[in-house]
Amino acid sequence: MSETAALAELAKRRGFFFASNEAYGGTAGFYTYGPEGAALKRNIEDAWRDLFVRELGNMELEAPTVMPEAVFEASGHLEGFDDMILECAECGATHRADHLVEDAVPDIEDAEALGTERVAELVAEHGIGCPSCGAALAEEPVEEFNLMFGTNIGPGSGAPGYLRPETAQGIFVEFPRLKEYARNTLPFGVAQIGRAYRNEISPRRALVRVREFTQAELEHFIDPERDRPPIEAVEDVEVPLYSASAQTGDGDGGVERHTVGAALEAGPLESEWVAYYLGRSVEFYERIGIDMDRFRYRQHLAGERAHYAADCWDAEAEIGGNWIEVTGFAYRSDYDLSKHGEHSGEPFTVFRQYDEPRTVERAVVDPDMSYLGPEFGEAAGEVADALEALAGRDRSAFEGDSVTVELDGETHAVPVETTGFAVEEQTEAGEHITPHVIEPSFGVGRLVYSVLIHAHGTDTVDDEERSFLELPAAMAPTTVAVVPLMTKDGLDERAEGIAARLRADGFEVAYDDTGNIGRRYRRQDEVGTPYCVTVDYETLEDDTVTIRERDSTEQKRVSADDLSAVIRRLVSGDALSEL
Ligand code: GAP
Repeated sequence: MSETAALAELAKRRGFFFASNEAYGGTAGFYTYGPEGAALKRNIEDAWRDLFVRELGNMELEAPTVMPEAVFEASGHLEGFDDMILECAECGATHRADHLVEDAVPDIEDAEALGTERVAELVAEHGIGCPSCGAALAEEPVEEFNLMFGTNIGPGSGAPGYLRPETAQGIFVEFPRLKEYARNTLPFGVAQIGRAYRNEISPRRALVRVREFTQAELEHFIDPERDRPPIEAVEDVEVPLYSASAQTGDGDGGVERHTVGAALEAGPLESEWVAYYLGRSVEFYERIGIDMDRFRYRQHLAGERAHYAADCWDAEAEIGGNWIEVTGFAYRSDYDLSKHGEHSGEPFTVFRQYDEPRTVERAVVDPDMSYLGPEFGEAAGEVADALEALAGRDRSAFEGDSVTVELDGETHAVPVETTGFAVEEQTEAGEHITPHVIEPSFGVGRLVYSVLIHAHGTDTVDDEERSFLELPAAMAPTTVAVVPLMTKDGLDERAEGIAARLRADGFEVAYDDTGNIGRRYRRQDEVGTPYCVTVDYETLEDDTVTIRERDSTEQKRVSADDLSAVIRRLVSGDALSEL
């Protein structure tokens, strides 16, 4: 059985995750996290919050998942958040046309960049058939399909809205308020963990491509001319880099390990801010249990980058022989805030104070409204605004006897002597700038999936095959399972008391008294519980219990009174053999 098939079976049987709504035939692209999976996911989210919010001193918010259409007009999602769709005329199945081409043509890795026409040609040239029924697809059109789920806000269809396709927009639209909380001082970061929705054409690979998923995103707002990251903190961190040149054949074709400092100095890292977050994130991936031998940072190829993105890298985890993007790191420049500023008319800027006040020449106007009023009637105010904008843009327009402004496609001539045009010296304390954004964007479901795949293994214990999850103790859904040797002679009551005390001390505890003891250990190994505590007859005599370690299967007796302290040491990294 492949590692992904084995994990899917385990995930369903032991309650990590499973396809939703199966009682009604299932809904492709939606997964439910069972009790074990929900706990693992929560631990991963807590680890993310602990580093990217608490340790790095950022803010966290929680925005709605439904947003009005105007937001997505501004962000560009309405116009361009599309994938290529191809529908089979024979069976009606829909497919991602670019994925069909990538699967069929070994040399093509990013078919989306080729455009719909070329992809349709490739489908025909390579005789690609429908993966569902085998019918030829050569004659079918390849079209753009917007991935957003639409809805109506309130009754009727007058206020269209969309389920957000990324949590980021919930942060960007609140920038005017968030900058107040940051006391108008850059840099500052705002994080959010929440659901995002994409009507994926072909959901696949379990949690990898789904229609509803959790993102953990950080938007770090900076002054691009003044702010630098504390790069010293990560300079010596080693990062596995798969550069654009290695991918296109100019390099040696593989992953190279460099320190962040060296990769910034000699390439391929370009942006200090992106480099900083690649370095910081290594700590996070290690903490949650990603196998760093099955992990790389891949640089986007030029054609892959969004038009606003200056430097982009993806963190990728290897799963079943495929590299899966688990995080996108992007330097988004001032694109998002500028767009929201333009569309909303609100100030998506911050005031940058100069070190010293500066004296500058400014072209100003002071229109004579007793002339503009009678001449332009209701439009007089707009003419005055247009004159002011023109003076700021092009003072030479005021050099003749009259100046021309355009309003709603109509031109209006105004005598210069009535505009009050003048060039004045003004002293300014600063200027308004649109911050730039660095965005690490993590897909939590993909992290859960990668961690599970990387943790899953089998070995032989006591001549029996054992399936286990080698999860870091802090990520495991259950930290300690308490198992009484027998459910008689007071052993079960003693064990329940110990379990209650461990719970009161803050541990995630399972109590398991069914089946033979070996079977109970196997059950806990399979859901990744790092420690089992066995209560036996000796416990009744001397108040000691046995602790069993999942990975080594080693066992040791400790005093029941010391149990919480011992488990705390184990969780923080001490080995049982060292105690
Ligand atoms: N705000 C930037 C953004 O949303 P993205 O690369 O489209 O960037 C970020 O998404 C992360 O979200 C990805 O790296 C991936 O882990 C996760 N993700 C995206 N689409 C997904 C899907 N359909 N199913 C599961 N996770 C997804």
